[in-house]
Amino acid sequence: RGGWWLLLLLLLGFHPACGQCPEQCQCVRTAQVECSGASITAVPSPIPANAMTLQIINTRITELGEASFGNASLLIGLRIEKNDLQRVSPDAFQHLPDLRYLSLASNKLQELPVQVFQPLGKLESLLLSSNQLLRVEPDHFAHLSNLKELQLHGNNLRELTEGLFDQLASLTKLNLARNNLDRLPPRAFERLPQLQVLRLYENQLRHIPAGAFDALPELQELGLHQNQLEMLSPELFVHNGNLQKLYLSNNLLTALPAGIFLPLRALSKITLHVNRLRDISPAAFGPMPNLRELWLYENELAALPAAVFSNLTQLQLLVLSKNQLRSLAPGAFRGLGELLELSLHSNALRRLDAGVLGGMPKLQNISLQNNRLQTLPRGFFTATPRLQHIQLHANNLESLPAGIFSPLAAVREVKLHNNSWRCDQAILPLRAWLEANPSKVGDSPPVCAQPAPLRGTPIAGLQQDQIPTARPSTPLPARPSQETLPSGPPTTLTATAVSQEEEEEEEGRGWWGLTRTQSTVVGAIIVLVCVALLCALVALVVYGCRKKSHVVLMRMKAPNEA
Ligand SMILES: *[C@@H]1O[C@H](CO)[C@@H](O)[C@H](O)[C@H]1NC(C)=O
Ligand SMILES: *[C@@H]1O[C@H](CO)[C@@H](O)[C@H](O)[C@H]1NC(C)=O
Ligand SMILES: *[C@@H]1O[C@H](CO)[C@@H](O)[C@H](O)[C@H]1NC(C)=O
Ligand SMILES: *[C@@H]1O[C@H](CO)[C@@H](O)[C@H](O)[C@H]1NC(C)=O
Repeated sequence: RGGWWLLLLLLLGFHPACGQCPEQCQCVRTAQVECSGASITAVPSPIPANAMTLQIINTRITELGEASFGNASLLIGLRIEKNDLQRVSPDAFQHLPDLRYLSLASNKLQELPVQVFQPLGKLESLLLSSNQLLRVEPDHFAHLSNLKELQLHGNNLRELTEGLFDQLASLTKLNLARNNLDRLPPRAFERLPQLQVLRLYENQLRHIPAGAFDALPELQELGLHQNQLEMLSPELFVHNGNLQKLYLSNNLLTALPAGIFLPLRALSKITLHVNRLRDISPAAFGPMPNLRELWLYENELAALPAAVFSNLTQLQLLVLSKNQLRSLAPGAFRGLGELLELSLHSNALRRLDAGVLGGMPKLQNISLQNNRLQTLPRGFFTATPRLQHIQLHANNLESLPAGIFSPLAAVREVKLHNNSWRCDQAILPLRAWLEANPSKVGDSPPVCAQPAPLRGTPIAGLQQDQIPTARPSTPLPARPSQETLPSGPPTTLTATAVSQEEEEEEEGRGWWGLTRTQSTVVGAIIVLVCVALLCALVALVVYGCRKKSHVVLMRMKAPNEA
């Protein structure tokens, strides 16, 4: 970075450095002088008069004296990096009228004389990063009207003096990251009409003054991550229609003002992860045809309103993991027609609406692990036939509707381990799928969690005679039937044969089976027929109501589960 001048010189230079090459330096075929090594403690001398670039790297030089490079007036690139430099004479860079590139990066500078850069009217790149600078003054930069790049990151700057950058009308890149800035002067960037890159990350900024970026129409990249920002003013980006990359992660943002990103149509990257966002206002994201990724993990989002991302039609990756999502509106992801990967793991989801994946026909990966899901709605994956990787492990899943994976012709991996699988008849559709797709569950095949005798048994290996017949999965329909039992233990009823059709129809939500008796004992027939009739009646009522009442039942269960 910033070394392009040197590269260019490599290509341009043809004549070897003539005159004497200083000891401990190398003067390579071009007019390049390179000095390095711990044995060097002072600027080597004499520097060949035709030298065009000079590098002094990894030495023990602590000081640059007056006109240190005075006879090398053709120098256009000077790199003095990774030394012990602590002091620079005010006149160190005298007689270097052509210098374009100057790096003093990675030294031990705490201060610089204000007039030190004054002779360098042609300077285009000034690298002062990774020092211990405590202050810089407007006068430092007052004569650098050709400066395009100023690197000040990795210093100890606590504040920016008013008007610090006002003379840098050509500046395109300004790096102030990794300092101790806790505020910005309101007009800090007012005279930088060409600025394209502004890096302010890893400071202590608590607040960005309204209008701070208004005079930066060319801004393409703005790094504000790893600060202490709690809020942003709604109009902050109104004049930054060319912004392509906006980094806001690792702050303390609790909300995004309505419309804050609407002007940013050129945005191709935005990071918002690791903040305290509680919700996203419906008008947060306007059309951003270049945005492919949206990172929102580790926030405090509890719900997603319908269609909140609907303007982000080109999004391919949406990361919402590690929030507190308890529910997703049915159309939460509407409009995300290009989405390939959706990350929802490590939230508090208990149930999902059947339509929640609608509108994402290209989805390939979905992660839902580490939630509290107990089941998935029937047909959950019908709108996403291209799914390849599905992560459902570490939930409370007891069973899955029959045929839930059948729309997924391309599926490669379904992680199902660490759930509460209930191994009764309702597990049979899952067992059938597992046996047909043994390679798709990865290294941890799902095992039964209940009933107790089967705990730990792999579902795929369950034998028919190991599987107890199902109890109804909800207590509501079970109770009336038991109450109406005239006599005998209720288990005799449920331990009857199952017809295949019933098993199919009930898709994991429990089932009801009744004996078609051919008994020869008349008394037994009478008792059994009475019981069977009663149960058939109950079963009919229950089954008839089940479809209608399914949703209601789920709702009724919800408060108990909470
Ligand atoms: C510059 O060159 C003169 C003679 O040509 C020499 O006396 C002087 O020491 C040189 N200065 C530096 C800084 O090399
Ligand atoms: C989509 O963008 C328009 C502006 O073009 C905005 O008015 C609308 O609120 C945005 N919708 C959402 C859901 O953010
Ligand atoms: C989906 O997940 C797999 C496995 O983790 C990964 O190799 C693949 O790149 C992902 N696909 C997309 C589109 O992110
Ligand atoms: C199973 O998931 C729970 C969270 O749902 C987690 O605490 C536990 O460590 C997981 N166990 C295994 C064996 O992965």
